Amino acid sequence: MNIGKARAYTNIALIKYWGKKDDRLILPMNNSLSLTLDAFYTETSVQFTPELPTDRFYLDGQLQDDAQTKKISSFLDIVRHKYDVPLFAEVTSKNFVPTAAGLASSASGLAALAGACNAALDLSLTPEELSRLARRGSGSACRSIFGGFAEWQKGDSDDTSYAVQVSSDSWEDELAMLFVLVDDAQKDVSSRDGMKRTVETSVFYQGWLTAAAEDLITAKQAIKEKNFVSLGETAEANALRMHATTLGAMPPFTYWSPDSLKAMNLVRACRAEGISCYFTMDAGPNVKVLVQKKNQARLLAQFTEQFSENQLVMASAGPGIEILNSERSLTHD
Ligand code: ADP
Ligand code: DP6
Repeated sequence: MNIGKARAYTNIALIKYWGKKDDRLILPMNNSLSLTLDAFYTETSVQFTPELPTDRFYLDGQLQDDAQTKKISSFLDIVRHKYDVPLFAEVTSKNFVPTAAGLASSASGLAALAGACNAALDLSLTPEELSRLARRGSGSACRSIFGGFAEWQKGDSDDTSYAVQVSSDSWEDELAMLFVLVDDAQKDVSSRDGMKRTVETSVFYQGWLTAAAEDLITAKQAIKEKNFVSLGETAEANALRMHATTLGAMPPFTYWSPDSLKAMNLVRACRAEGISCYFTMDAGPNVKVLVQKKNQARLLAQFTEQFSENQLVMASAGPGIEILNSERSLTHD
């Protein structure tokens, strides 16, 4: 059997996906909108083979334990069932992104896995089909099939829930995102568990859904008009609304740390000084700052005064999923 290899980049949502209406199929409660970035990505190889008695998963050179391999196997079970493949697989993956730290390793990781399966099994999936498949591994992964801006249209079934490209006349090439790595340790509450607890218990959840639908319309209009202030204001407000739901959950929780607040306050201070920039945050303490390329040097200079250089990564808009040359045999590092 072929070795399939793919590279997928992380995406950061400007309008967040936060909550499922179907946990098994990973159908979201609301549409979301993201920007794929070039700085962080995953490369994954897959080979289905009759020689394995079970799936084997190497991540960053380490053979993963049963718990980590189980998540991969659940995804491979979907592939096996859907495409009638009665074989176990060896999966070798390298994250060029901290794992499980709120930097979207699940998006790049599961998109790369879906892409590698597509290549290994010669499935020739269309981008829409690949997006639907990646979604079954991790919701946000369905957006990493596309470069630039992507919208995950929630749909109401396995067939109708997938991401599409949001055309922007290449406006994304004028944008950048500063990653402020407050903490790259694995987080306590995964996005999957955090959103589930929120849907089930947060007194603010209904308000989130109402606001997210409106935010999406505003953000798409802002992209159409290339209106940076409108896109940034909407993205920042949307992130704060998402994080507000966690405080209304039972038991309440937050992904913020003191350094997250320090970064958010610095963004506000930069704005007061005339640098147009806006923050967003995911299920972890790291802060991402949306800025126009023309202002990125000034923004970086401000952040370098308060954070160390190795905490700061500037990203540009990134490409969609790439199938890599898979002639080489697998290595585990
Ligand atoms: P993050 O903020 O990094 O996306 P999550 O808790 O949402 O954090 O997801 C992390 C999970 O994503 C990991 O525990 C693992 O199950 C999965 N994951 C991360 N990287 C990979 C990869 N390269 N291949 C497969 N699964 C991965
Ligand atoms: C806060 O896609 O990691 O980053 O579908 O359960 O795998 P699962 O969750 P995941 O959640 C991402 C949540 C978020 C917002 C976003 O990326 O839209």
